[in-house]
Amino acid sequence: MRDTLRFLLGDERVEIASCDPTLTVLDWLRLDRRMTGSKEGCAEGDCGACTVVVGRLDRGLLRYEAINACIRFLPTLDGCHLLTVEHLKGDDGALHPVQQAMVDCHGSQCGFCTPGFVMSLFALWLNEDSPSVSRIEDALAGNLCRCTGYEPIIAAAQRMYRLGAADRFDRDAVAKRLSELSDAATLSLSGPSGRFLAPATVEGLAEFVITEPQATLVAGATDVGLWVTKGMRRLDPVIYLGRIEALRQIEDRDDDLQIGAMATQTDVRSALAALSPEINELMRRFGGEQVRNAGTIGGNIANGSPIGDLPPVLIALGATLVLRCGGENRIIPLETFFLDYRKQDRRPGEFVEAVIVPKLPADALFHVSKISKRFDEDISAVCGAFLLRIGEDGRVAEARLAYGGMAGIPKRAAVAETALIGRNWDEAAVTAAIAALPKDFTPLSDMRASAQYRLTVAGNLLRRFLIETTQPEVETRVAGLLAEVGHG
Ligand SMILES: Cc1cc2nc3c(=O)[nH]c(=O)nc-3n(C[C@H](O)[C@H](O)[C@H](O)COP(=O)(O)OP(=O)(O)OC[C@H]3O[C@@H](n4cnc5c(N)ncnc54)[C@H](O)[C@@H]3O)c2cc1C
Ligand code: FES
Ligand code: FES
Repeated sequence: MRDTLRFLLGDERVEIASCDPTLTVLDWLRLDRRMTGSKEGCAEGDCGACTVVVGRLDRGLLRYEAINACIRFLPTLDGCHLLTVEHLKGDDGALHPVQQAMVDCHGSQCGFCTPGFVMSLFALWLNEDSPSVSRIEDALAGNLCRCTGYEPIIAAAQRMYRLGAADRFDRDAVAKRLSELSDAATLSLSGPSGRFLAPATVEGLAEFVITEPQATLVAGATDVGLWVTKGMRRLDPVIYLGRIEALRQIEDRDDDLQIGAMATQTDVRSALAALSPEINELMRRFGGEQVRNAGTIGGNIANGSPIGDLPPVLIALGATLVLRCGGENRIIPLETFFLDYRKQDRRPGEFVEAVIVPKLPADALFHVSKISKRFDEDISAVCGAFLLRIGEDGRVAEARLAYGGMAGIPKRAAVAETALIGRNWDEAAVTAAIAALPKDFTPLSDMRASAQYRLTVAGNLLRRFLIETTQPEVETRVAGLLAEVGHG
């Protein structure tokens, strides 16, 4: 057991013996360290003004990612390298190429958003050599600017590579220092408002989940962070899952992928993109880059949200969930995990250990669509994921139609599926399935969409699936039009 938090802040090794479990990285930087470069805009992961870059060892290799400091708890940085906008200037005062490019391209007006943009660009600069404009836009989708406009910032993102100065951070030295900080001991930290427990093994976690029944499990904190910053909730104790490397692994097996609960949306996106380009496209629109770098597949399922993006996809694919209690595993179809609004089949002492995702059969037709008010960084009003198999007789042999946003839980449209089975995959069958949707769902009206809109969209998505699979030339034309307006 270790009772001191240890991480690197720039070149400095930080050790903290007393820390509240939910102190945010942003509050610590600004209030304790008086490093006020990182800004607070929204305190909910939306605006990117607080973006910092965090390095961690991933299977022995140093990996840097942009994250939102406003919803990340400081103790989760144990064993990491934290870089803020204050760290970019050289010892001689020279601006980093990212900063210089922003100056050269007039990428800042009031400047409030600028440190966040600089850090998102810095993460891009560290990880990629020649990103396309579309890739730059993705990397910046989690940053909002209300006055400069995005063109100069995108120009800066292109220019920073032309300024080409060497990175002043010695990655080998940082990796060595981080490996000296990593250990297999459980981190048990206390502060005035509670305890933070971070086991380094799955066995240690399994024990804590049983012995600390009041604890809140924290993975990427992209949901839980808001309970603290917006809901003003006090969480004590917190059990953090992020030090357990085994939970981050994604195993590519013959017929399926086994994805550890702590795999981030960034890694899940890469793994699932191999199954279907449509999932890649969906995941591109999952939060912004900072959210995808922190949020996990386990959190997206365990939060039980009816509008999470992954559950409909995983249900359509026939995924199963590995729940663990002590030394025992219980494996259930994912769709049976969701019982009622925010009520899941998770028994006392259990946690989500992994998700098993079958690969798409060669003969399967698959489609997923996310409908939201904004293209980037928005939660779904409706998400539809469909898997269909056509038998040798040309008729629908299997149909899995899963929706988010249509009920209190992510759910299959069982009546609509029955309407398709045994029929030719054509307009008449889809019309029958659409007519059945009101028997499957009585959606709510809320700020995202009205009930009528949701039902109409749910049907239209099915029709789109038909067009996509039977008239690909129409879909190609639509894709071309979308690309023209920047949504390709
Ligand atoms: C700005 C922003 C944009 C977002 N955009 C999207 C979006 O486009 N689509 C979308 O679906 N979601 C979105 N989200 C929501 C959130 O990012 C996802 O739900 C994310 O996957 C949650 O994962 P996490 O690791 O951060 O979970 P956490 O916040 O750490 O935890 C969420 C819940 O799951 C529990 N939990 C976590 N891991 C486990 C486990 N292994 N076993 C048991 N319980 C566990 C926690 O106790 C908690 O109840 C967004 C959030 C923000 C802040
Ligand atoms: S302050 Fe807006 S994302 Fe953190
Ligand atoms: S420069 Fe003012 S918000 Fe971006």
